[in-house]
Amino acid sequence: MEIRTILVVGAGQMGSGIAQVAAQSGYNVILHDVEERFVERGLGTIRRHLDRAVEKGKLTAAARDEALARIRTTTALEEARGADFVIEAVTENLAIKADVFRRLDEAAPPHAILASNTSSLPITELAANTKRPEKVIGMHFMNPVPVMPLVEIIRGLATADEVYRITEELAKALGKTPVVVNDFPGFVSNRVLMPMINEAIYCVYEGVATPEAVDQVMKLGMNHPMGPLALADLIGLDTCLAILEVLHEGFGDPKYRPCPLLRQYVKAGWLGRKTGRGFYLYD
Ligand code: CAA
Repeated sequence: MEIRTILVVGAGQMGSGIAQVAAQSGYNVILHDVEERFVERGLGTIRRHLDRAVEKGKLTAAARDEALARIRTTTALEEARGADFVIEAVTENLAIKADVFRRLDEAAPPHAILASNTSSLPITELAANTKRPEKVIGMHFMNPVPVMPLVEIIRGLATADEVYRITEELAKALGKTPVVVNDFPGFVSNRVLMPMINEAIYCVYEGVATPEAVDQVMKLGMNHPMGPLALADLIGLDTCLAILEVLHEGFGDPKYRPCPLLRQYVKAGWLGRKTGRGFYLYD
């Protein structure tokens, strides 16, 4: 099967990053979101990143223009009919994703593979919302997508070997390194990362240290490129909370209980970089 056109559903932080990488790798991209202003914002982010790469001399202006010309935007999920491969990157909510998968299954051609960029939700359950569970797979990119080399590939219970092989090849064609894992809550990336972030928040909550001190310890002491609280702000505190809830509920183990301070920040609308305030303030 030849993949020519990739539909990216969701033009937020992850979706726009995936669309950018796919367009730069030579694929035709359809970028979808539910409202025109969301797709425009996603496209604006891509344009900004590509412009910056041109300014730094890392990309030619012609390559930027070619990548942008490969992306078209839509607010109609029915556009899935023109896609060979779909990557869903909508909000981290099982009911919303399940609905998207039902609609994609109806609209996409029979050969199309439906992948989810979910960071913790069960691929097997998303697949069960379609009539093609063997063609459903997890393709979990890391943030910021254009920079991070990993794609965690998650095989659902019914995912066909051939679908896994095609997805692995696609990840490589996008310049990423695929790592395959099985379908359990949080997969590997977030099962390991989120308890660290949660524990860092507990350190602030319990008055052990300020956010700056916690992050300094992890940066200077453990050589992490950014501290866990700055990283939580980058990921989005609502997303961190959603993933911790999935781990907590999925394993029934109190070690995954989300810190009350995280819940409070999310309730306050302090979601990190995207809202201008999380553990830090942003312009
Ligand atoms: N989009 C595109 N490119 C970006 C970017 C963004 N949002 N942010 C930074 N970059 C690029 C910069 O343009 C720069 O590119 P060049 O080297 O070509 O000039 C490069 O990344 C380095 O950026 P900076 O010099 O500005 O800053 P830095 O060296 O501190 O790197 C970072 C920034 C790459 C984000 C680095 O701090 C880092 O690796 N942080 C950890 C990120 C991480 O852990 N991500 C995983 C999150 S978990 C996840 O995503 C999974 C989940 O399910 C929650």
